[in-house]
Amino acid sequence: MMEKPDSYVTIHMAASLDGFIARKDGRVDWLETSDEFASGDTMDPEFVEAFLKTIDCYVMGSRTYETALRFEAQGLGWSYGDKPTVVLTSRELPRTRDTVEFHSGDLAQFVNGRLRPTFRNIWFVGGGMVAAECLRLGLADEVCYSIVPILIGDGIPFFDKLDKDIALHLADVKAYKNGIVELRYDVQGHGAESRNAS
Ligand SMILES: NC(=O)c1ccc[n+]([C@@H]2O[C@H](COP(=O)([O-])OP(=O)(O)OC[C@H]3O[C@@H](n4cnc5c(N)ncnc54)[C@H](OP(=O)(O)O)[C@@H]3O)[C@@H](O)[C@H]2O)c1
Repeated sequence: MMEKPDSYVTIHMAASLDGFIARKDGRVDWLETSDEFASGDTMDPEFVEAFLKTIDCYVMGSRTYETALRFEAQGLGWSYGDKPTVVLTSRELPRTRDTVEFHSGDLAQFVNGRLRPTFRNIWFVGGGMVAAECLRLGLADEVCYSIVPILIGDGIPFFDKLDKDIALHLADVKAYKNGIVELRYDVQGHGAESRNAS
């Protein structure tokens, strides 16, 4: 099957200024901060809702899925709405909803042969192991990095064991009233950047 000509793979996560997406034990309690940046943009809930509707499918690693299941069990809800959600795992994990599908094996073949022909906006939502794998295999068009105004000293890195340089093009920067800075990069040779050049 041919990929959708406009299919787009984005890696999106929030990280501390020192580059960690979770503490070593997986806790993300530090994601909520009380910072205020007066001249920042407001995260308008209606805009966020409209934006989330543009995402067609989510992909995540099993450890991120296990965190999502824990949040759900604590009554904190499921962050991925009714969108198809692929969990990468070699294990048997509980499946709590019909929208969740498990995959193991060749990620490049899966993304290019199965996801890109089916979905337009494909979001990799972590964790660090999967983000690095996605970049290593040359699958990502875009990296969205939300910097939370905190240093946590140690933890799980945004890009775990990335063993090569990945050249990026800074496409957008936004600062929000809660002190979060969102950086959007095109992966060079991919996506908007290469489409603009052709
Ligand atoms: N701050 C944020 O925005 C954010 C976002 C996402 C996650 N997180 C946090 O990050 C932590 C998880 O990150 P992580 O780097 O430790 O783990 P992860 O990337 O979520 O999951 C890694 C696991 O996914 C499975 N996997 C990866 N690639 C695969 C492939 N091609 N085929 C089959 N299975 C594959 C393997 O597990 P199996 O053993 O199951 O095969 C692997 O151990 C959690 O604490 C989570 O809360 C934070």
